[in-house]
Amino acid sequence: MQDLHTTIEKIEDIKTGKNAVILAHNYERGEIQDIADFTGDSLGLSQQAVEQDADVIVFCGVHFMAESAAILSPHKTVLLPEIHAGCPMASMITAEALRTEKKKYPDAAVVCYVNSTAEVKAESDICCTSANAVEVVNSLDEEEILFVPDKNLADYVARNSTKRIIPWEGYCPTHNQILVSDILRVKQAHPEAEVLAHPECRRDVLEISDSVFSTTGMLNYARKSTCMEFIIATERGILHRLEKDNPEKRFYYASEFAVCPEMKAIDLDALLLSLERMQYVITVPEEVRVRAKLALDRMLAVKR
Ligand code: 13P
Ligand code: SF4
Repeated sequence: MQDLHTTIEKIEDIKTGKNAVILAHNYERGEIQDIADFTGDSLGLSQQAVEQDADVIVFCGVHFMAESAAILSPHKTVLLPEIHAGCPMASMITAEALRTEKKKYPDAAVVCYVNSTAEVKAESDICCTSANAVEVVNSLDEEEILFVPDKNLADYVARNSTKRIIPWEGYCPTHNQILVSDILRVKQAHPEAEVLAHPECRRDVLEISDSVFSTTGMLNYARKSTCMEFIIATERGILHRLEKDNPEKRFYYASEFAVCPEMKAIDLDALLLSLERMQYVITVPEEVRVRAKLALDRMLAVKR
């Protein structure tokens, strides 16, 4: 274990020497968010992956995020510092299962939440993130939409669009275990606080929330709002940026259990090793990549 200052200096030096850029999701550990060149939600980080002219993208997030960067930027080396950082929701559907489901709904468009594997994206017409799911669905000509894999996001979209949404039975374990009773308990202690929830939460949680946002949506809203207190119904890592950006405001997490272990897998030592050893390189077979890229490109072309 090296001293923290030395580790940070080494990361900065190797990063510059290798023309690398560090992207970090809003749920990552605070020290990872602080050293990153860009932090953001899934949509913002996908956009950054396209715009960066670095040779190496070190993706501090989970596997599907690094995979999306590799799909969008095949000529860059994409590193995921912890190879076991995956998304349980993404594992709740396979390409084969999706192919079988598509046969039942031949007229439906397939909209795939980015929290999914490259193979599942390759079977889909268009991707979406939590920041643009409603806009993506509304941009399609089809009235019937097979929406995979998050049933909670599918339900949120169904209630905010006129389309017929056929959900998949997947969910995020971290968001799905946030309960109405958790929020009411915090609300009792802080009655003036506004409740901001992520659309991966259950319907009853969203119904008692004041607003529903992606993680970056929450950051933008909290910065502009005149409200001084917020209850945050999403993964707890977001409080790092919320508190840093708004030192005069107070933030309370809805549930102390809302921690995604996958998003905490990368620490500074893992990041340094990743840059030193150029590990772990994320690649996608070309035949899958090209089809998955179409679905991601269509999403990125949808106006917000
Ligand atoms: P964002 O879409 O807000 O980034 O959050 C999704 C998520 O859970 C990332 O795993
Ligand atoms: Fe997957 Fe949920 Fe963790 Fe996001 S927070 S990576 S959706 S398990």
